Amino acid sequence: MSQQAQALQTERILDDFAAAVIDGLSDFPRQIPCRYLYDARGSELFEEITQLEEYYPTRTEIGLLESHAAEIAELAGAGVVLIEFGSGSSRKTRLLIDALQSLRAYVPIDISDSALSDAEQRLNSRYPRLAVLPVHADFNQQMDLPDQICGARRIGFFPGSTIGNFSRTEAENFLARAAKLLGPGSALVIGVDLKKDPKILIPAYNDAKGVTAAFTRNLLARINRELDGTLDLDAFAHRPVYNESAGRVEIYLESLTCQQASILDTTFCFSKGERIHVENSHKYTVDGFQEIAKEAGWTAAQCWVDKRDYFSIHFLKHD
Ligand code: AVJ
Repeated sequence: MSQQAQALQTERILDDFAAAVIDGLSDFPRQIPCRYLYDARGSELFEEITQLEEYYPTRTEIGLLESHAAEIAELAGAGVVLIEFGSGSSRKTRLLIDALQSLRAYVPIDISDSALSDAEQRLNSRYPRLAVLPVHADFNQQMDLPDQICGARRIGFFPGSTIGNFSRTEAENFLARAAKLLGPGSALVIGVDLKKDPKILIPAYNDAKGVTAAFTRNLLARINRELDGTLDLDAFAHRPVYNESAGRVEIYLESLTCQQASILDTTFCFSKGERIHVENSHKYTVDGFQEIAKEAGWTAAQCWVDKRDYFSIHFLKHD
């Protein structure tokens, strides 16, 4: 991307962020979309989260991929193109790339340009003969796939239970869009976190070392940094709550005092105990997820779950 295009893009992202923060903090209840948690520092902290003792999803999913990569490759067939949604570091992808037979190309899709080019470089040196065709896009928006993959069967990959950030309706819409993008004859390998005892869930989002709290509070630091904010980071606490009826962990920033802060030209007053909703992490049952997938046009061909029933990987087919 040219320097000018890069500058324009940065400006657009900043405008989006400003509008989302000002609108969201003016809403009742107050909320800020969770995608803004992932600036450079936020992504670093999220990497740290994935290695925490209490945070079981990453470890469990990698274990499942290691155990079942050969089966996944068998179901996928030979000569396919692998397309990953929100590829990030592409760490889990290597397990699939190693297992798939005569993979035609790998197409990572990510909203972060830097994550894409890092992954591209690493994959090019590890797999010199594999065509890596990055697509810089927001996978929630309409997009085109590279011409080079025309005619090849497509296997989508959406690991990490990233789908958990979507509401159930958004999840169904994403799955329907993915079916359309990947086309007839395609498949989707998707990681989905499962419902479980809140005694396991809450510590996964409230670790003893405070990394998740730092991840949540980094949003406030980002607002101060990028939007000229005067928020007092120490006056907000990280509060994860399991909402049983909605089947999700909700993450809030709770004001510990009655306070005022300005962001750009707007002043906000927070009462003591008032919360800003910053993230949802939806949990599914295997059947519940498969039902949504079916509504979106997918057939559940196979599902793998670990021994403790913590996490699931689904192989969905689109006829
Ligand atoms: C990236 C959405 C899968 O919900 O577990 C982890 C995000 N937030 N700890 C999750 C997250 C705080 C994570 N996902």
